[in-house]
Amino acid sequence: MNVLERLRAAFAAATPEGGDPKSFGAAVKYTTDPRFRCDYQANGCMAVGNARKANIRELAAVVADAVDLEPMAGKPEVAGPGFLNVRLHDAWIAKSLGELLAGEFPGIEPPKAPRTVVIDFSSPNVAKPMHVGHIRSTVIGDSLARIFEALGHRVIRDNHLGDWGLQFGMILLGWKNDLDPEAYALNPVAELARLYRHVAARIKPADDLGDDLREVEALEAKGKAEEAAKALAKLSARTGLDRDQLKAAVAQARAVAEASRAETVKLHAGDEENLALWKKFMPYCLEALRGVYERLGVRFDVELGESFYNPMLASVVEDLQARGIATESDGAVVVFTEGFKAPFIVRKSDGAFNYGTTDLATIKYRDETWKPDQSLYVVDQRQADHFKQLFAVARKWGHDGAVLEHVAFGTILGPNRKPIKTRDGDTVGLESLLDESVSEARKVVDENSPELDADERARVSEVVGLGAIKYADLCQNRLSDYVFDWQKMMATNGNTATYLQYAYARIRSIFRRGGFDPAAVRDQKPAIILDNPAERALGIRILRLPEVLELAALELKPNVVADYLFDLANCFSTFFEECPVLKADTPERRDSRLAICDLTAQTLEFGLDLLGIDVVERM
Ligand code: ARG
Repeated sequence: MNVLERLRAAFAAATPEGGDPKSFGAAVKYTTDPRFRCDYQANGCMAVGNARKANIRELAAVVADAVDLEPMAGKPEVAGPGFLNVRLHDAWIAKSLGELLAGEFPGIEPPKAPRTVVIDFSSPNVAKPMHVGHIRSTVIGDSLARIFEALGHRVIRDNHLGDWGLQFGMILLGWKNDLDPEAYALNPVAELARLYRHVAARIKPADDLGDDLREVEALEAKGKAEEAAKALAKLSARTGLDRDQLKAAVAQARAVAEASRAETVKLHAGDEENLALWKKFMPYCLEALRGVYERLGVRFDVELGESFYNPMLASVVEDLQARGIATESDGAVVVFTEGFKAPFIVRKSDGAFNYGTTDLATIKYRDETWKPDQSLYVVDQRQADHFKQLFAVARKWGHDGAVLEHVAFGTILGPNRKPIKTRDGDTVGLESLLDESVSEARKVVDENSPELDADERARVSEVVGLGAIKYADLCQNRLSDYVFDWQKMMATNGNTATYLQYAYARIRSIFRRGGFDPAAVRDQKPAIILDNPAERALGIRILRLPEVLELAALELKPNVVADYLFDLANCFSTFFEECPVLKADTPERRDSRLAICDLTAQTLEFGLDLLGIDVVERM
C-alpha cells in the first residue's frame, strides 16, 4: 500500500476552488521535520491562495475541514503560512504493519497502467577488458530494472554491446601480426585482451607524443624559439628520443591506427577472413564479460549489440532520405536538428555508418518488437549531446511512441579528484577492482567477526565487498562525480552497504539468540504496539517502501532507495537502543517488537536487493 498516494488522492478530492486537483495532490510530501510533529505535509494551498489572492491560512483551514483522511489520519493541522500537517493515527500505523506482516511482503499493488520499459545498460565495447567506468552503467541500470520490476512493470534489459567497432579492427590487426598461438590455445580471452592492449599501446603515441610535438611546433610558429627548444628538450629527456625519432614514432603510431581502421572497414564490408575471425572471437569476448556479470548478479533479457543492427543501417539511411529528413552534405548524409550547430551524421562521406545510425536502427527495432512506453539509456553524461540529438532525430522520424530518456551519470574520481587510474596510469580493470574490494572487506570481516570460520568469512567478504562497491555508487546522486574511497565505503557506521548489512545481521541474531523463527512470528500475527516514539518512527519508515520505489522510478534514481534504507537503519538503531526486544517487560511487547524487527529485516533485504546487494545471516 502506498501511503503517499492515498494521501494525495484524499487531498486532490478536497482541492479548493481555482486549484488543479493533480498538482494540489502532488503537493503532499513526506516530511521528517520534528518541529512540525507530523509525518506528511500538504503544501498546495500556497499556489492556489497566491493565484486567487486569497488568505492562505484561511484557505488551508477550509481544506482541513473538507479533506477526509480517515482511517489513516484525523483532521490536518494548519501550520506556518498555510501548510497542512498530517499526523498518521498510531492505531492505523499499527494495523497496517500487522497487515504487512500477515500478507505478502512488500505489499505493492500492481500498477493501474503497467508500462513496458526498455533499459539499455552496461553496453560495454567488447574485446577490451571491462574497466572501472563500466561499473556505473551496469549497477545503475540493473538497479533501475529491479525497481521497475518490483513496481510491476514489464522490463526489457538490453545490453547494447559495442561489438562492431574499431576495437575489433585493433584485435584483427594484432591477430595478423603479433599472435602468440600457444598463449591463445591456453587462454583465448587473455590472449585477445593482450592483443588489444598491445595494439592500443602502439597507437597511443599518436595522441600523446603527437600532442606534445604539436605544442613544440606551435611555439616555433609563434617565434618563441627558446621556449620551443626547452619543451623539446624536456620531451626528449622523458622519452629518450630526438626530434626525428619522435616524428618517426608518431608517424608509426598513426600508421598502426590507420591499419586498425582499415581492418574495421574490411570487417564492415563483409570481408570473409575478418568476418570469420570476428565470429571466432565473439564467444570468447562474451565469455569474459559473462564472468563479471555473474559475479555482480546482473542479467539481461537480450544482448543485441551493434553488429545485430548492421544489416539494417543502409535502409535506415534510405528511409530518412526518402522522407526528406536526411540530406546530403559534403558527401555525407546528415539530419539537421534545431539547437545543434553540427548536424547528426548518419552516413559518413566514406560510406561508413555511425554510432548514431546504429542507435536509430535500434530505436526502430525496439519500437517494432516491444512497443515500449519508455526507453532508458544508462550512459555516461559525456554522451549527453549525442542522445539529445538522437532523440530529436527519432522524433522527426516518427518514432515518438516511447519516452526516450538519457539516464546520465558522472565520473568516478581517484583520491586526487581526477578520473580514477591505477598506479601505472592505466584505467582500473573492473575485475581487479572487485577482487580488491573483496580483500578489503576480508580485513573488516576478520577484525569484526573472528568467531566465524574461515569459509564463512570468505563468503561474507564477497557479499560485503561487492555490496560496498555497488552501494558507494548507487548512494550517490548519479549525476555527481564521486571520489572512490575504500575506508569510507566499508565503514560499519555511515551511509554504506556494510552498515545496512550489519543492521540486517543484528536482527537475525536477535531471533537466533531468543530461539524465535521469523515465520512463526508472522503466523502468530501479534498485535503491534507503538508506545515508544522509536517504535512509531520505525513503523512509519517500514510503511514508506512502496512510495519510495515510485519516487525512485519517477526520478530514475537508485539513491532515493539508498537514502531511504539509511534512514530506516538509523531508526532501527535508535529503536534497538531504546526498546529491549528479548527482555521486553511483557510477552505482548516482546512479540510486537519481534514483529517490527522482522519487518525491518524484510525491508532491508528487499531494499538492498533492489540495489543488487545481498545480505548475510551473520557477520
Ligand atoms: N558502447 C557504448 C560506449 O561504451 C555505450 C552504448 C550505450 N548505448 C547506446 N544505445 N548508445 O560508449
